[in-house]
Parts: sequence; structure tokens; C-alpha cells
Amino acid sequence: MSRRILVAVAWPYASGSLHLGHLGGAYLPADIFARYHRIAGNDVLMVSGSDANGTPITVKADEMGITPREVVDKYHPEILGYWETLGISFDLFTTTMTENHHSVTQQFFLRLLEAGYLTKGSSEQFYDPDANRFLPDRYVVGTCPHCGHAEARGDQCENCGRTLDATDLINPRSALTGATPELRETEHYFLQLPVFEERLREWIEPQTTWRKHVKNWALGMLEDMPERAITRDIEWGVEVPVDDLGPGKRIYVWFDAVIGYLSAAIEWASNTDDAAAWKAWWEDSRAESYYFVGKDNIPFHTVIWPAMLMGHGELNLPTNVPANQYITFKGEKASKSKGVGNSIGWYAERLQPDALRYAIASILPEQNDTDLSDDQLLRRVNEELVATWGNLVNRVLSMSANNFDGAVPEPSELAEVDQAILDLGPATLDSVSDHIEKVELRAGLRSAMDAAGEVNVYLNATEPWKVIKEDSVRGGTILWTAIQAISAIRVALTPYLPFSSEASIPKSTNGQRRRWQVERH
Ligand code: MF3
Ligand code: ZN
Repeated sequence: MSRRILVAVAWPYASGSLHLGHLGGAYLPADIFARYHRIAGNDVLMVSGSDANGTPITVKADEMGITPREVVDKYHPEILGYWETLGISFDLFTTTMTENHHSVTQQFFLRLLEAGYLTKGSSEQFYDPDANRFLPDRYVVGTCPHCGHAEARGDQCENCGRTLDATDLINPRSALTGATPELRETEHYFLQLPVFEERLREWIEPQTTWRKHVKNWALGMLEDMPERAITRDIEWGVEVPVDDLGPGKRIYVWFDAVIGYLSAAIEWASNTDDAAAWKAWWEDSRAESYYFVGKDNIPFHTVIWPAMLMGHGELNLPTNVPANQYITFKGEKASKSKGVGNSIGWYAERLQPDALRYAIASILPEQNDTDLSDDQLLRRVNEELVATWGNLVNRVLSMSANNFDGAVPEPSELAEVDQAILDLGPATLDSVSDHIEKVELRAGLRSAMDAAGEVNVYLNATEPWKVIKEDSVRGGTILWTAIQAISAIRVALTPYLPFSSEASIPKSTNGQRRRWQVERH
């Protein structure tokens, strides 16, 4: 029975070029996971899109002197280009600017409102007296009350990851004018998060497959969970579907962005011949959903989005949120705004896509922040990918091409060393598959590369290049054996290295059954 797997990937703000931190944080792991499940015969739906709303976009528009829409129109195609170049295989990568997204978000809002989970209230928000406007989210900066970071933003502290209200900041100032903002009354809608606390705890506590750091963070959040404003004083974003707030208000970007997973599935289905096809991933409780996000997104995916889903009803909660930690460069988090770490495009111009995929997959920050330098990246490619795997394939295939008219030699009787290498193939497929199922993608890659290393050791011990000259039957058996292992390792590596794994390789001759089916070329 094939499984249905929703691969939901964080929506990047279309406000700047993405860097390797994004790639390793969410997009590459999501793609490896999705490709594995497709090969395994499961029904995968992988969706995301450009996050077009919120202050990251409007701040950028102000900076560039263009409209928010123009900002998205500039960066969205660039992001799509990365996915194309690197083989990040989305079923749909849309934006939150579509009519569909706006209407799905508004319906979601109304459903929560009708169920009593949204309440209107008056609150004090910062107002810039010089600019004559309210200062939502990133328009205010100040010191984080939790960790003391001096450059915390009004929506979240980048340093400790806590979600914030701008009014929590110590020494707040306007990002527009530097003025000290004053508090003014304004009306907003609030999501009644505290109502969901018990249900969230009962759902999170028994999770056994979640990463420890993810689960701890989520449980920690439940300790202190005020209601959260889900509208803002801003002129850009999804319109509030009721008119009692008055003008100048929009839905908060974080409320609409997470709904994007649902709206994108609906948009995807509307382009097929079954417009209801999305339901198989959202309403059928047997379907699984995996949310690939960076650690700063953990609060929104483990607590706030699940609360929204509980309030809505009839939609699946996340199966797992395998959030990654950060890739750092010389100890600093890569950041578009701070110019730390080059863009994905910069690397894609200099490295083949599989080389870049390999280097990032081998250091995925699954448990801890992981530092990456350009030197280390190149070393990984040259000393591991090329030296271990590339050389293995190259020397075995060229030896058999040169000595057996380009065909895979026929084996004769197998020695014990041969049998061990023959058994390595299925064992590797099992182990890589077990790791990927648990979203231990880095370990999965390690396991495939270790197998390649073992085949190299086998060749160095059996020396087919010498044996062939005296005993071509024995030499052929060694090469045949190595090719069987290579063929299995290639399949195991396909989710990681989709481009090179597609290059043609002689057909396996022993017809062994595999858990993984791949198209033959
Ligand atoms: N745009 C947000 C960010 O880059 C992520 C949104 S993820 C979503 O941090 F789930 F909300 F869409
Ligand atoms: Zn902080």
C-alpha cells in the first residue's frame, strides 16, 4: 500500500537572495526526503512558495523605492531558478500573492472566528511620531527581554528564536526613523492560543519521532502562551475578511503564511483533473505530513499552526516537524540582511548541482548548529564525493569497458569476500532507507558513502587490474561483484545526487529484488 506524504517546506520571504543556510535548513532536506518517498513508490505532494507578505517585504520595498509587489516579482523568479538548477523538486512552488491564497486564508479566518477562537480587542502598538504611522513587527528594533540581544526585531529575536511582541522590547526604536516610538491604541483580532494549551500538550508530549530540540522547544512554549494578534496596521497583505477593524489593517503574515501549505495544495489540485485531489493529503487521517523548516520557525509549526488546525478541524496535524538548526559561517548565522554567506546562486555558478547538494547534505545541521566554510565545502566534494564515489564508479566501469567490450562481465563462482560485497548492496539500501524514514538524512548519506568506501577496500584487496591480466574469469567476477554494489549504492544516493545518479550505468544482471525501484536509463 503506497503512503501519502505531504512534504511542506517553509515559505521563504521573497525579499532577497537565499543562501546556503536556507538550502541546508529546509529545501535540500525536504527534497531528499521527497525524492526518497517517490522512489519508494509513495504519493508525495511537495509544496511551498514565496512568502510575499509582511514587513520583510515592505521594508525591502521602502529600501529599494519600489512596491512590495515589485519586490516579489523580482525575487520569486530568482528563487524558482534555484530550484530548477539544484533539482529541488516541488510539485508546486507558488506565492502568497495569489487570489487562491487570499481566499483560502480569509475562509480559514472566518471559520476560526465563527468557532469563537478569534476575538477582537484593543491593544497598544508602537507608533512613529516622525513617520506618522504604526510600526508593526520589523519596523521596531530593540533589546530582547529574554537574551539581551541588542538587535532583536519586533516579531522575533533572531538570536534566541523567541517570538516577541514589539512591546516586549527593551529600548525600542523605529527602524524607519530611529525615533523612540510611542504607544497608541489600535484594534486587532487575536488568536486565543491559551484555549489550545491542553490539547497541544496532549498532542506533543507523546510524539516519539520528533527531534529532541524541536519537542523541547514546543513544550517550552506552552509554559507561557498569551493570545496573539493576527492582524497588523499595515497596507500590504491579505485583507481582513470582516470590516469592523476599519481601514489600514491586514492579516498578520505569519497567520497567512502557514495557511499557504493548505492553499498551495488546493492550487496544485486545481491544476490537475481532480480539483479535490488535495484532500487525500489533508483530510485522510492516514496521510502523513512533514514540515521542513529552520529552527526560527519551530514556534509557528509546532504550536501556532497546529492550534489553528485544531480550531479549524477536519485537517491533519503535522506528523513531524524535522526542523534544522543553523548553518553558520565562521560562527555567524548566514543572513541576507547582514550579508553573511554567499547566495545559492553564487555557489550554483561555481559548483555542479550534485556537488553542492553533496557538500550540504553531508553537514546538515540536524541536531546542532554546524559551521561551513568554502574550504570545507570543496574538501567534502573532492575528498569524499569525487575520491570515494566518483573514483569507484569510474575505475570499475572503465576497467570493465576496456576488458569486456563495454559489457558487464559474467560472474563465476563467488568467494567469501565477493559474497560480502554482494550483500552490501541490499544492506545499504535498507540502512539508508531506515535513516531517511527517520529524517536522519545526514546519516543516510554517510551510510551510502561508507558502503562505497567498503567497495574501494574490496578492490584494493582483490586488485582486479592485476588479476585480469592472468585470470580474466576471476577478474570479471570481481568487477561484476563491484558493479552490483555500485548499482545499489547509486540507487541509495539518488535522492541526494539526482543528476549524476541518472547517468547511465550497466544493468544489473542478477535481478535481485529491491525495496527501491528506479527507472532504468
Ligand atoms: N517566511 C518565513 C521565514 O522566512 C517562513 C514562513 S514558513 C510558513 O521565516 F510556514 F509560515 F510559511
Ligand atoms: Zn533573544
